[in-house]
Amino acid sequence: MVETVQWTDNGVVFIDQTKLPTEESYVTCRTHEEVATAIKDMIVRGAPAIGVSAAMGIALGVKNSRAKTVDELRPEFDQICETLRVTRPTAVNLFWAIRRMQEKFATLATQPVEQIKQELISEAQRMHAEDVASCMAMGKHGATLMPSSGGVLTHCNAGALATCGYGTALGVIRAAVEAGKKIQVFADETRPFLQGSRLTAWELMKDGIPTTVISDNMAGAMMRLGKIGAVVVGADRIAANGDVANKIGTYSVAVLAKEHGLPFYVAAPWSTVDMETPTGEQIPIEQRAAREVTHMAGRQLTPDGVGIENPAFDVTPNKYVSAIVTERGIARAPYGESLKKLAKS
Ligand code: MRU
Repeated sequence: MVETVQWTDNGVVFIDQTKLPTEESYVTCRTHEEVATAIKDMIVRGAPAIGVSAAMGIALGVKNSRAKTVDELRPEFDQICETLRVTRPTAVNLFWAIRRMQEKFATLATQPVEQIKQELISEAQRMHAEDVASCMAMGKHGATLMPSSGGVLTHCNAGALATCGYGTALGVIRAAVEAGKKIQVFADETRPFLQGSRLTAWELMKDGIPTTVISDNMAGAMMRLGKIGAVVVGADRIAANGDVANKIGTYSVAVLAKEHGLPFYVAAPWSTVDMETPTGEQIPIEQRAAREVTHMAGRQLTPDGVGIENPAFDVTPNKYVSAIVTERGIARAPYGESLKKLAKS
C-alpha cells in the first residue's frame, strides 16, 4: 500500500502528490513549518491525510523544542498548533486532529518534557493507525452498497493518497473488488488540480482495478449511456444535517446522479463529520490561487486579465445523498437523526 504520510526519526515523510503520476518521489519535512507548507502546497492533501499530517507536524514541532519545562513548552505548543491551523480551512479533520493533540497535551501537564514529546509522537502515530483501520471498516460497510458489476464514478481522490492508506471512497471500491464485484471505475479528472486523473487513476492502476479517466464534463453523458451504476465520493466536512462539502464539482455529479436515478454515496471517517456545524451553509469554502485555473503545467490557458473563480470545494445538499458510509456504520436520511445516533455509538 502506498505510504502517504509516515513518521520517521528524520521527520515526517510525504509522497509528493504534486509530482504524481509521472514521478514517485518523497519529501522529508524536518520542522512543523515545513509540514504546514506541505499541506498548503498540497504535497499532501485529502481530508484524513491532512488531519494526521497536522498531528505529526505538532509532534515534530514539540520534538524540536528546546523548552526545559512544561511552562516554557506551552506557548510554543500553542504557536505550533496555530501554524498548522491556518493551512487549509475546509477539511474539518485538520481541526479535529489539532484538538485531539491539544487534549492529549492537556493530560500531560504534570509530565517531564521528554515524556510529553514521546506521548505526542505516539498519539500522532496512533491517529495514523486508526485512520487506516477506519478506512478498512468503511470499505466493509460500503462494499455492500456497490453494484455487483458495472461502472462506478468517483470524483477527486478519496483514496490511499488522501488518507493514511486504503482510502474512503476508493476503500469502498477496493473492498467491493476484494469481495469479487466486477467494478469498472470512472474517475473524473477533477479540474483544476486534477486529483482524479493524476492520483485516483495512479493508485487504482497500481492495484490493477480497471479505471477509465473522463473529463468532468463527460460524467452526464456517461450516465445517460448507462455506463455508470453508482457514484461514490469522499468528503472534507459533513454538517450535522448531512450536507456534504467535497471537491468542487461534486455537487454537479450529485445532481446528475439524481436526474439519472443513480445512488450517490459519500464515504468518510467520523472525524469528517462536524456535529458543531448545523448545515452546509456554515462550512468555510477555501478559495485557492487563480493560477490553478489560468495555467496548466506552466502554460497559460486564459487571456490576461480575465475574471477567475477558484473555490476548492462545493456543498452538496443532503437531499442528493443516498447514504453516508462511516467506520461506525451507514447513515441514511433523515441525516439529522441518523448522524446523531452514530455520534453516540
Ligand atoms: O483539495 P484536496 O485535494 O485536499 O481535496 C480532497 C477532496 O476533496 C477529497 O475528496 C476529500 O478530502 C476526501 S479524502 C478521503
